[in-house]
Amino acid sequence: MVLLPLTVALGCLALLPLTQGVPTHSRANSLCRNLPGDDNWPSQHEWTQLNETVKGRLSATIPLGAPCHAPNYNSAQCKYLAAEWEYPELHANSSTSFSNPYFQNGSCDPFTSKSSPCLLGNYPDYTIDVTGPADAAAGLAFARKHNIRLVIKNTGHDLLGRSSGRGALGLWTHHLQSMSILDYNNSQYTGKAMKVGAGVQSFDAYAAAHTAGLRVVGGTCSTVGIAGGYTQGGGHSMLSTLYGLGADQVLEWEVVLADGKHVTATPNHYSDLYWALSGGGGGTYAVVISMTIRAHADGIVTGAMVTVTETTSSDAFWDAVTVFHAHMPSWIDKGAATAYVLTNGALYVLPVTFPGYNSTEVTHFMQPFAAQLQKLNVNHTLTVTSFDNYYKFFDSFFGPLPYGSYTNGQVQGGRLIPRSTLASNESNVALTAALREIASNSAFEIVGVGVDVSKGGHVPNAVFPGWRKAIATLEITANWNYTKTYAANAHNEALITNKYDPLLAEVTGPTSGAYLNEGDFNQRDFQSQFFGANYDSLKKIKHQYDPESVFYGPALVGSDDWIVGDDGRLCQAL
Ligand SMILES: *[C@@H]1O[C@H](CO)[C@@H](O)[C@H](O)[C@H]1NC(C)=O
Ligand SMILES: *[C@@H]1O[C@H](CO)[C@@H](O)[C@H](O)[C@H]1NC(C)=O
Ligand SMILES: *[C@@H]1O[C@H](CO)[C@@H](O)[C@H](O)[C@H]1NC(C)=O
Ligand SMILES: *[C@@H]1O[C@H](CO)[C@@H](O)[C@H](O)[C@H]1NC(C)=O
Ligand SMILES: *[C@@H]1O[C@H](CO)[C@@H](O)[C@H](O)[C@H]1NC(C)=O
Ligand SMILES: *[C@@H]1O[C@H](CO)[C@@H](O)[C@H](O)[C@H]1NC(C)=O
Ligand SMILES: *[C@@H]1O[C@H](CO)[C@@H](O)[C@H](O)[C@H]1NC(C)=O
Ligand SMILES: *[C@@H]1O[C@H](CO)[C@@H](O)[C@H](O)[C@H]1NC(C)=O
Repeated sequence: MVLLPLTVALGCLALLPLTQGVPTHSRANSLCRNLPGDDNWPSQHEWTQLNETVKGRLSATIPLGAPCHAPNYNSAQCKYLAAEWEYPELHANSSTSFSNPYFQNGSCDPFTSKSSPCLLGNYPDYTIDVTGPADAAAGLAFARKHNIRLVIKNTGHDLLGRSSGRGALGLWTHHLQSMSILDYNNSQYTGKAMKVGAGVQSFDAYAAAHTAGLRVVGGTCSTVGIAGGYTQGGGHSMLSTLYGLGADQVLEWEVVLADGKHVTATPNHYSDLYWALSGGGGGTYAVVISMTIRAHADGIVTGAMVTVTETTSSDAFWDAVTVFHAHMPSWIDKGAATAYVLTNGALYVLPVTFPGYNSTEVTHFMQPFAAQLQKLNVNHTLTVTSFDNYYKFFDSFFGPLPYGSYTNGQVQGGRLIPRSTLASNESNVALTAALREIASNSAFEIVGVGVDVSKGGHVPNAVFPGWRKAIATLEITANWNYTKTYAANAHNEALITNKYDPLLAEVTGPTSGAYLNEGDFNQRDFQSQFFGANYDSLKKIKHQYDPESVFYGPALVGSDDWIVGDDGRLCQAL
């Protein structure tokens, strides 16, 4: 995530022909998914039949970047796309586009030459605009019958390439936009709840909750689909110390299973599926149609925004980072959460979010930290601002709503930071040294979220156990620079995998793990690092509900049964 420059706050086409690259070699057999050009690729007639089944909602992919390439070049459209490309809201409105530049692979973007062809690359070939369970079931049946890869795309704010897939049939869930506020009452929970269709984005959920005097757990980046990979993979929020992760809010999942069956999973019904869907990773077990989550009474929220900026990256600056991390747990223990961005010489705390406290109280809570910054004699600011409700708070610090102002064309890795790491001065100082080394590479910044979700689990779920011991998750990100070569950018990805993630693991210990939604898709030993002790149970549940592995995504449960070949073909690992 790259949060754009400080204002008040830092927030977090029928254009034919398309040239489809010809697979370099054909390994089409039962162990590999078919690609276009294979003998077993569905015929035109079969696609037309599928289109009839879904009432005309099947489209053949024209990549979003097509107007930037011959023979369909359109200067005005291309200019617009180039300006918006790094913002996630652009991709959310496209049936096939996604924001991960590594997987975009320059196949059809606004930054390559206009004479270069627009290739499908890792965009699916065909996509169904899903309007309900029947559309999803039709797509699943077709993908299984013809042995082709399936991709579920919601908003495309997907940092690990999970909305991408060469030669795939896509299910686009973005138009499942229903929302309702419910009075929920069963043995697990009595109170207000909100039912959201799979395509509802956080900004819409926040607005609907606000209208009803409520607030819900959703993305700090407001464009993320709330029922998508966000909640299915965990989902942290500025309210998570108070209420738990997104996955901890779920009362019901309405899904379509791989075999087309339309079911509702709750703690009592399809309880294994409920368990897996709540934190065990997006797009792995079933196609989510809607979910029902807890909604909470709204109230005062106060933010303490801190900036520490030094023109040179001095020892004093990095001491201030240590001091920040030393104080952070005391705020979190009051129910706070915080987002922060760290570069070589700047720390932006955006802000420490205190639900339920007023500005007098928060100023008091921040005082010991402020005194230490004075003592260190670093250039800093501290501003405390109160709002009547979460919506206004969010709009001010992470807005302007609906979209906020952040880009996410990046590569990233990261680490969950156990509370014990910050509890000892020695390990806290070691963490600062590791962060200093990473930030000394000017291509990188560190995005932190300080939160304690140890008390969040209302019912057992598959949230990675490392989350319950954590006091923060740190994401190390390098913004993708489209004017540089693919190889130069991919080099940053390799640095994360081979150097920076291991550096953080040295400080936190090997079992603290990483947050699967904001981690490195090349994370070594992703099974234990993203899923921990849950992995084997999750894989069993996956095989039970998805015996043919129709659902696949990088570094998700069961992905270790598959490999992606040089031609992009998905094949079973032997
Ligand atoms: C599916 O049908 C609709 C409506 O007739 C049409 O606009 C669309 O192009 C068709 N899709 C494909 C892949 O042919
Ligand atoms: C996305 O589509 C919606 C609905 O048509 C529209 O209101 C919104 O402005 C679009 N957003 C962008 C960034 O184009
Ligand atoms: C990007 O495209 C190149 C050339 O077609 C291919 O070799 C490479 O595997 C692709 N990378 C990804 C991540 O898809
Ligand atoms: C919830 O359901 C129980 C059992 O049916 C009932 O006794 C109780 O009054 C209900 N509570 C609310 C707030 O509706
Ligand atoms: C001090 O901090 C302010 C606010 O962040 C910033 O505008 C200014 O450039 C900083 N001054 C120095 C000398 O770093
Ligand atoms: C904040 O709350 C305290 C009670 O906890 C109260 O004494 C104080 O007056 C309040 N301050 C403001 C600015 O409302
Ligand atoms: C933490 O350790 C560092 C390095 O040994 C030392 O300079 C600093 O004074 C210590 N801070 C505290 C609060 O003990
Ligand atoms: C991207 O790379 C170009 C060429 O190396 C450089 O001029 C530019 O400053 C870079 N952009 C950013 C935002 O770093």
